[in-house]
Amino acid sequence: MSAGNVLMVCLGNICRSPLAHGIFEQLSSDFDIRVDSAGTANYHSGNSPDRRSQATALQRGIDISQQRARQFTVHDFDAFDYIYVMDRSNLADVLSLARTEAERAKVALILGEEEVEDPYYGGAEGFEIVYQKIDTACREIIAAWKK
Ligand code: 4NP
Repeated sequence: MSAGNVLMVCLGNICRSPLAHGIFEQLSSDFDIRVDSAGTANYHSGNSPDRRSQATALQRGIDISQQRARQFTVHDFDAFDYIYVMDRSNLADVLSLARTEAERAKVALILGEEEVEDPYYGGAEGFEIVYQKIDTACREIIAAWKK
């Protein structure tokens, strides 16, 4: 696997993918790549990340407060080499917009088989679990790039 531009995708782009965006950006600073995030839905477009995601990131020195939610568009297939989604619903939504096999091949669950479950309606501990899962996955991706 070689380094490339990475887009992190969840439903609202306010909880999971902003964390993934911040974590990956920090871990990939050795690479000259673009990292961004988006949501399959547009209902939080323009919003800052959820305060619980901001707090969870900031505990590790990652400031995601300047991120703003946006909706995934078909043009993201042109701009990004890797599109990592959090759950199977995101996977189906993004794949439904792919125009070619090459675009489909850019899309994967960030955990491989498992899902990063939506923490929106739960408590703070859910965000910690999300952080841990995403952090592990991001480190594995970057380790593979460095091989
Ligand atoms: P996210 O979480 O997809 O990780 O950003 C959600 C945020 C908002 C909603 C659902 C999931 N919502 O229904 O508003």
